[in-house]
Amino acid sequence: MSMVDIINKKKLGYVLTKQELSEAFLGYYHGEIPDYQMSSLLMAICMKGMTDEEILNLTDIFIHSGEILDLSQVNGITVDKHSTGGVGDKTTLVVASIVASLGVKVPKMSGRGLGHTGGTIDKLESIPGFRVNLTEEEFINQLNTVGAAIISQTKNLAPLDKKVYALRDVTGTVESIPLIATSIMSKKIASGAEKIIIDVKVGNGALLKTQEDAIEISRIMKMIGSRYGREVETMITYMDIPLGTSIGNALEILEVVQILCNQENNYLVSLCKALSSKMIQMALGKNINQANAMVEDSLKSGKAYQKFLEIIQAQGGDLSLLRVSSNKQDMISTKSGHIIGMDAYRFGKLSLDLGGGRKTKEDKVDSSVGIVLKKKIGDDVKIGDILCTLYLKEGTDPILDDITSYYTFD
Ligand code: URA
Repeated sequence: MSMVDIINKKKLGYVLTKQELSEAFLGYYHGEIPDYQMSSLLMAICMKGMTDEEILNLTDIFIHSGEILDLSQVNGITVDKHSTGGVGDKTTLVVASIVASLGVKVPKMSGRGLGHTGGTIDKLESIPGFRVNLTEEEFINQLNTVGAAIISQTKNLAPLDKKVYALRDVTGTVESIPLIATSIMSKKIASGAEKIIIDVKVGNGALLKTQEDAIEISRIMKMIGSRYGREVETMITYMDIPLGTSIGNALEILEVVQILCNQENNYLVSLCKALSSKMIQMALGKNINQANAMVEDSLKSGKAYQKFLEIIQAQGGDLSLLRVSSNKQDMISTKSGHIIGMDAYRFGKLSLDLGGGRKTKEDKVDSSVGIVLKKKIGDDVKIGDILCTLYLKEGTDPILDDITSYYTFD
């Protein structure tokens, strides 16, 4: 069947066979199908959805576009963690440090920013020297010596997803349950962990906007996991406001350091603890109280922070060289009241507009830009108070006069 026939078939809502999905997606991977035709098919999938069978078939095609990592050389239980994407979401860096400090192996393959959401790899690349591309041997060695390694989607693992992901990012085809599930699960299966926890984010700043969508994608991801004999757990968590106090790559690394040094206590910290406890339960068979106590101890004793430093050092990063922009703009409130809402989506878009993400595939991310939130939900604000500080590209003019409308006051 020609690519146009395949696009038309999906556009009319019919089910594509594995053969048709292979022709389209592998053809795209091998450069025989151009970006514009793949964009059109992706858009048709966004509009018409996919059956479970199509999702399983597409995931299988993605997985077998590359290698499946063999983690049998890793000593100990492997647990991977993934988030469906949010604004200010730096949980992976905290959670991997805590869980690895407790003796569980965390083989983590992360992504770059997607749409208005940030990506762990972009955050890590703000640390000068940090290598996100380890060889398979280095990855496994680091898991055995340090306990966690965080790498970018390598060429060899689900490489088809890497190509499709970059196209979705710039063609308005990110927010699709089948495409998100396929993308995440193909990477999770290919990267080899025995157990996987997925943080399913829901809300205005997330890729999934409703509770129903979050429940549905959880079902699909568990279904895919069981097809490959992997234990998959999901946690549905809220993303109506940005997570934590900063958005932007280098700024978020600084926030991770603060959390691991016990200098913050907010919803993000509770979320990191909850995810870590779940991973400890899955890996070590502990009950929830035991797992919670282990996580608290790792943070309080500084073991989690030490582990974070070990991960950075093992991958060549030098935290002392991390740089944030010196071109700052305090954003002043033009209203007074009690903050009852913050538009996570608009904050994510603003970070993108500041240069912290990509609008085209070729864009270079500026890791020094971003937003530090000074006022959050529950705070009382007076006219003239600083709501947040924008970190602009060095040498550029402000791009926004007033940010008050990003907040809801009562
Ligand atoms: N994270 C991924 O890896 N893929 C998606 O499609 C969305 C979030």
